[in-house]
Amino acid sequence: MTDKTLILIKPDGVKKRHIGDIISRFEERGFNILHVRMLTMNSDQASDFYSIHKEKPFFSELIDYITSGPIVQVVLEGNSAIEVVRQMVGATNSLKAASGTIRGDFGLSHTENVIHASDSVDSFEREFNILSNI
Ligand code: CMP
Repeated sequence: MTDKTLILIKPDGVKKRHIGDIISRFEERGFNILHVRMLTMNSDQASDFYSIHKEKPFFSELIDYITSGPIVQVVLEGNSAIEVVRQMVGATNSLKAASGTIRGDFGLSHTENVIHASDSVDSFEREFNILSNI
């Protein structure tokens, strides 16, 4: 099934100059790039984007991190995009992510984990709508 998903290249991915590497991986895999935009979230926007985590102990660290610099929003389209992109991204904790995945190749932290990818069609729509208002 052809579907769409959203990724964010997070502040550490941008600072470490991995924007091109990350977008290339998705292009090489065969995804179409529908939209690319650089933006910086403020804390209200970030708290809304990550509202499902607001009771978690890492929430304030996450908000400080995601608002610490520019991020890059990319919308990808292709076969089973949500599932395949999540596989390419790897485990949430970069320390545990397999080599060959984006987090496993570019990260060494749980919070600063290089990239976010939507985990369902509902998340994609919700996240895209929030970003469209920024
Ligand atoms: P992401 O996939 O964007 O979704 C929520 C984010 O919270 C996650 O990536 C990490 O950046 C962060 N995160 C999730 N779990 C933890 C944790 N246990 N400790 C620190 N940060 C976390």
